[in-house]
Amino acid sequence: MSEIIKIGLLGCGTVGTGVVKVLQENMHEILPKVGAELKITHVLVHNLSKNRHLPADINLTDDINDILNDSNVEIVVELLGGIHPAREYMLKAMQAGKNVVTANKDVVAQFGKDMFAAAEKYNVDFMFEASVGGGIPIITPLKQCLTANKITEVIGIVNGTTNYMLTKMSEENACYDDVLKAAQEKGYAEADPTADVEGLDAARKTAILASIAFNSRVDLDKVSTEGITKITPQDIAYAKELGYTIKLLSVSRENELGIDVRVHPALLPQTHPLAFVRNEFNAIFVRGNAVGETMFYGRGAGQLPTASAVIADIIDVARDIIKNRFGRIGCTCYEHKPFCPIEKTISSYYVRLLVDDQPGVLGTIAMAFGQTGVSLNAVIQKRKVDTCAEIVAISHEVQEEKIRKAEQTLNNLPAVKKICNIIRVEPPTSQEI
Ligand code: HSE
Repeated sequence: MSEIIKIGLLGCGTVGTGVVKVLQENMHEILPKVGAELKITHVLVHNLSKNRHLPADINLTDDINDILNDSNVEIVVELLGGIHPAREYMLKAMQAGKNVVTANKDVVAQFGKDMFAAAEKYNVDFMFEASVGGGIPIITPLKQCLTANKITEVIGIVNGTTNYMLTKMSEENACYDDVLKAAQEKGYAEADPTADVEGLDAARKTAILASIAFNSRVDLDKVSTEGITKITPQDIAYAKELGYTIKLLSVSRENELGIDVRVHPALLPQTHPLAFVRNEFNAIFVRGNAVGETMFYGRGAGQLPTASAVIADIIDVARDIIKNRFGRIGCTCYEHKPFCPIEKTISSYYVRLLVDDQPGVLGTIAMAFGQTGVSLNAVIQKRKVDTCAEIVAISHEVQEEKIRKAEQTLNNLPAVKKICNIIRVEPPTSQEI
């Protein structure tokens, strides 16, 4: 008879149900790999009377203490989402000597430090592979497989909702409101889409990725965040003409001023590996000084992909339990690096503006860029909009503070009717496919 490792599941929504299902269906695969049977013995739910079609031998409870006080439960899997009470329950579970697996990006991004401190204090494992990229392995690869490297860059498409929306806008020439509606109908976007479209979901994932990549805690408030709500079909069409695709990017880099972490839409060269990531898919591109460029691609959300990542963590913890060990891959934030202020970050910029269609206006605009230290790579006069000419300019790489100064100066020019959009432009990779 093999050992049985008992698990308490907190939450039985989409992912929780997926975890129960995949563990049941794949147990014959999993058991020989672990050397123990993994058994969910308790499930914490809000509503006991709802029919969930769970195996009859699972104890359904609405009292966390039933799980915390059962000494046979060795792993607590938190899938409640949100900060409260998920954070408190995880801390109590660790205090009770239980290992914790979670998919909770909110808690890891904002309270990762406390969670790791508790895991160390109470000699347990704390695992969170599913918190970034759903089914895509990225936390463990960064912490283990790539740990020989100095990581210099992590760029990701880590939000499926916005990637689906931008793909549809690009491929079907659809407007923002229509694609949002389509995403909501397909279940990719929430009724309140704010967290996705304003970049907050991606920012949480960015804080987690950057903390691991640079071995230094990156709190959520350090991630400069901008969403996709201002992106228009016009910007997407011009970007395409210029050889770019617009994506919502999670960008983490280290430069001489410190860690540069941000989430924003960007023009990405069509040849960049991330430009091929369409619809609701996610991908994370990592550059290490030994490995070079790597990319992790797959489904960033969904019942079974997320369950795949959660169960991988459960299996890792179970292997530790069997070997009577813990904390093999604990907190890796052993440095305290400074942050590069957003105004000192460097990028190329796409600027779209409406100006008076008069002789000399292009020269005035070029002068305004030049006076504020912004060197232009290309200026194209596009269509006529009413009495105005639409101009698209692409700058060379420049500090953010200079482009903001240029924006101010342009706004004060009588010939400039409107600055429609300013979007960062990503450089090509060294070995594009
Ligand atoms: N809302 C997220 C996304 C999935 O659209 O990718 C959960 O993190």
